[in-house]
Amino acid sequence: MKKILMLIALLSPLCAGAAKVTPPDIVPVPQKLEMTKGTFKLKGVSINCDPALEARTVKAVRQFADRLSLVSGKTSSVASPVGLTRTVESGKIKGLYFIKDASVAPEGYKISIGRKAIVVRASDYNGFFYSLQTLRQMLPVSIYGTAPDLNGNWRLPCCEIEDAPRFGYRGILLDCCRHFFSVDEVKKVLDVMSMFKMNRFHWHLTEDQGWRIEIDKYPKLTEIGAFRDFTIIKRDLNSNDGQRHGGFYTKEQIRDIVAYAEARGITIIPEVDMPGHMVAALASYPELGCAGSGPYKVRTYWGVSKQVLNVGKESTMKFLEDVCDEVADLFPGEYFNIGGDECPRDEWKTDPDCQAKIKELGLVSDENASAEARLQNYVTARMQKFLATKGKKIIGWDEILEGELAEGATVMSWRGTKGGIKAAKMGYDVVMSPNIYCYLDHCQSTDLESEPYCITTKPERAVTMPKLYGYEPLDEIPEEAQHHILGVQGNLWTEFIGTNEYLEYMLLPRLMALSEVQWCKPENKNYERLLQSLGNHELPILDLLGYKYRMPDELRK
Ligand code: ACM
Repeated sequence: MKKILMLIALLSPLCAGAAKVTPPDIVPVPQKLEMTKGTFKLKGVSINCDPALEARTVKAVRQFADRLSLVSGKTSSVASPVGLTRTVESGKIKGLYFIKDASVAPEGYKISIGRKAIVVRASDYNGFFYSLQTLRQMLPVSIYGTAPDLNGNWRLPCCEIEDAPRFGYRGILLDCCRHFFSVDEVKKVLDVMSMFKMNRFHWHLTEDQGWRIEIDKYPKLTEIGAFRDFTIIKRDLNSNDGQRHGGFYTKEQIRDIVAYAEARGITIIPEVDMPGHMVAALASYPELGCAGSGPYKVRTYWGVSKQVLNVGKESTMKFLEDVCDEVADLFPGEYFNIGGDECPRDEWKTDPDCQAKIKELGLVSDENASAEARLQNYVTARMQKFLATKGKKIIGWDEILEGELAEGATVMSWRGTKGGIKAAKMGYDVVMSPNIYCYLDHCQSTDLESEPYCITTKPERAVTMPKLYGYEPLDEIPEEAQHHILGVQGNLWTEFIGTNEYLEYMLLPRLMALSEVQWCKPENKNYERLLQSLGNHELPILDLLGYKYRMPDELRK
């Protein structure tokens, strides 16, 4: 507690002229927040929606109003009166107003809180949705629950907020393959992402250790590939936890999750990792494998497998196209992740089909790439073309840069930042998710022994909250290439994460620190202010909603 008080005392006010008024604890902190005088009582008010708003925006406002009414104990009703914009322009207004304003930046919003009225402006769904998230964060924590809080302080401080994200791509990856997570847990992750204004969920759905998505044309992928006989304990290759592990999402469940995410401003990007990381598929359909490989078993241990797809066979490429066809139909977003990471090419060197394909395509080894690496380029290019016919753009891990990469592909930089820097300089769009800053499976403390068992074996590989928070995505990116950095993603791989509680512990509250890396301009970031907000407001929200999290070192008593 003493530490928190000291931090509060040290804090500089958020903006000039606001010296005596404490700004609300909003994370990610808005780009501009100016405190003015007075308060507005947000209880039993009339809420007015511009008739120009989309139906889903009005639905989100109604959900907010219903919760506010329930918890504050006084009904706030929603209406869409005609001529609303003129009324607002007249200035003679009382209540809460949501106005469509095409001049507000994508996903941005403005909130003007006066003593008599609040006016919210945005140009798109996410902007309005985020304005509601900001309003929620300015209210008592009880707004996140359903229990009446009749004595809560439902007064908002008068202020002017102008907010918009720094990056358009603000993501989290969840690996549901190394360990399977229920629909409810996936939704819980989407909920917390949306609270902190994240908008891309990269769903890792296929792996050596388990195939997690129903594919009609290849039922064995889920009959066989979705289950492994056991899992090793920690890193002991001779151990066996004695438990069959697995599960998969039906198409109906996927559609449900996609809609759930969409309502929260989140686009889901599916990943079908190819041509490596495919042992579960090989166990289901061994004919997809290379000569002399196998027998196949859904993998029970971690690391990179040398067993990869036989991409020299046309039937294997047809398999990939068929799978991607069905997967693409389930996800309406513009991106599709084709993986491309950690594909050892040893089997291709001796496989007659792969060697014949290399010959047929005239691929040769040179100082830049081996013929086998170029065979992977062929897979990437072919899938890029195929997915384009489905209206999708591809994203791949930074290995797809080896050799040749067609225009229009987006590179996800994971082996540090160098792949992303190189790709941006070459003119490719990039999502930065460097393992050194953004891998949420890494230990949260350099004192590894003090933390639950995880992937990290060296203290310097820990991703502590201050380390993550200090990440600057545009470092070393030349100014003329900076527009290629679409955004930043945190990756939660789950080799050692087998329970919901541990998943949440690894995600939170680093997710909030990440949200500021994604949303805020560097000059608005301030680690002490973030900690103060977490301690005051955001961690109590997580408590109320039943999330497990790691208490930041600085806030420990
Ligand atoms: C990765 O972590 N293999 C992308």
